[in-house]
Amino acid sequence: MLCVTVFCVLSLIWGGSWCEDLRFPPGFQFGAATSAYQVEGAWNASDKGRNVWDIMLHNTPSVTADGQSGDIACDSYHQWRMDIHMAKTLGLHFYRFSIAWSRILPTGFSNKISKDGVGYYNKLIDGLLRSGVEPVVTLYHYDLPQNIQSLGGWANPLIVDWFADYAGIVFSHYADRVKTWITINEPLILCDHMYNVGDIVPMVKEDLLGPYVCNKNVLLAHAKAWRIYNDTYKPHYHGKVSIANNPIWLEPLSEEDEELTELAREFGTGRYSDPIYTEQGGWPPAVEEIMAEYSKKQGFPYSRLPSFTEEEKKLIQGTYDFFSLNQYTSRLVRAAHEDETPGTWFSFGSKELNVVLETDPKWAFSDLKMIAVTPSGMRRQINWIKERYNNVSILITENGFATRDPGLYDTQRIHFIREYLREVLLAIKEDGANVIGYTVWSLMDNFEWMFGYTMKFGLYAVDFSHPLRLRTPRASALFYANVIKHHSLDNHSPEQYQHLKSTNLKSNNSSPATISIKELLLIFILIHVIL
Ligand code: NOJ
Repeated sequence: MLCVTVFCVLSLIWGGSWCEDLRFPPGFQFGAATSAYQVEGAWNASDKGRNVWDIMLHNTPSVTADGQSGDIACDSYHQWRMDIHMAKTLGLHFYRFSIAWSRILPTGFSNKISKDGVGYYNKLIDGLLRSGVEPVVTLYHYDLPQNIQSLGGWANPLIVDWFADYAGIVFSHYADRVKTWITINEPLILCDHMYNVGDIVPMVKEDLLGPYVCNKNVLLAHAKAWRIYNDTYKPHYHGKVSIANNPIWLEPLSEEDEELTELAREFGTGRYSDPIYTEQGGWPPAVEEIMAEYSKKQGFPYSRLPSFTEEEKKLIQGTYDFFSLNQYTSRLVRAAHEDETPGTWFSFGSKELNVVLETDPKWAFSDLKMIAVTPSGMRRQINWIKERYNNVSILITENGFATRDPGLYDTQRIHFIREYLREVLLAIKEDGANVIGYTVWSLMDNFEWMFGYTMKFGLYAVDFSHPLRLRTPRASALFYANVIKHHSLDNHSPEQYQHLKSTNLKSNNSSPATISIKELLLIFILIHVIL
């Protein structure tokens, strides 16, 4: 006992975590995620309609880093049994995947429902349930039917009803078995990034009204879908529905930037969440004010951030059953200098807020440079949501690490997942946050949008040159299975995965999980205390 106490005290002095309780609360759920266009392939199977990616990447393949498309991807349309097998082997409590709108509704509209499309997801859902893995289903993950894009996509207010029609049809087929739904994935990318930068398919750059009109339409579409589920299906099946937001945690560069940073958080996260999660509904008031003033300066007779009618506000307010959080990274915020023009929102800054976003030179990065490794941002983001939205229950629906290296001994990914999960535990145990689960992006390597197949996020490596798209577990898969099995971050020994080193294609030389000098010293001291 004395030894344990000495051990813990020394650990604390050392700033270590050896006596931390690394167990997850009972009922905490672990999952992994993918999305339809990124894994399914079968772009023209049966009567599937065309989505924006099919059209753009067939016409202009050079827009992706490797000139590739998701035509075959992981071929999950045919290899879904392998996907279920992986989910089961990992011991996942749930598997988050998305439904391809144009596979269910070939025209994008409700005039025609594809029998084969519906059948595909029936097989996947039933297979998962038979294996004890709960399906968590996203209705829309960037793959808009081309017909709808041709009519203006998310900038056309009619999309609100088209999306609601689609959602209603999907619920009518699967709500008896699917209990957790996400309406729309990452509207911050869909609206802010897409319209401000225009470098993601469908590659429409219109940064004056685009991001804001899209923002409003996404919220209305989500709200209508939520209400359809709530009114018609919830009374029978008791499931839950949310929208997946992907805030970047924003930290002030210095104390003076604190107020501006909070405004930037409201601009990035609040604009997509306040209308749903606050009691008063509507846009964050400070953001509404700034946008009205800035629009006036630009000569607009109205705000570029469209207002809500009272009816719209009411429609959106309260349309959640939990907060779906995709959390990857952080940025530092400072005010722009006098002679400086801020870059585009949300990667580099905002002209509207006169804000510049920076990274800390000390931060490590994944190979996808957007993702700086900032685990403490996870805890802070959770706390921001907790404080602002009345301790809403939070399901982390994405978090993951990108490498170019396809190797199996992916210790950096293990380190990333472990450190972020540790912050999730602190948020739960120290701060009282109501986090109910965590999802790794991704179950397997897949088509990483504009980066094609050059970026790997998978717990499983996929051989894209093999006709069956064989999947092989990485060290991170074994690590994650271990975390799930023990419901804890303990029981993790990197030696378990050493055998994968030899199967590495290119060596991954950092091994942050190996024993450190500090740990060795501590063991040395302890041996002396015991003896
Ligand atoms: C978020 C998106 O939802 C997913 O599609 C993407 O692959 C990952 N982030 C990694 O960039």
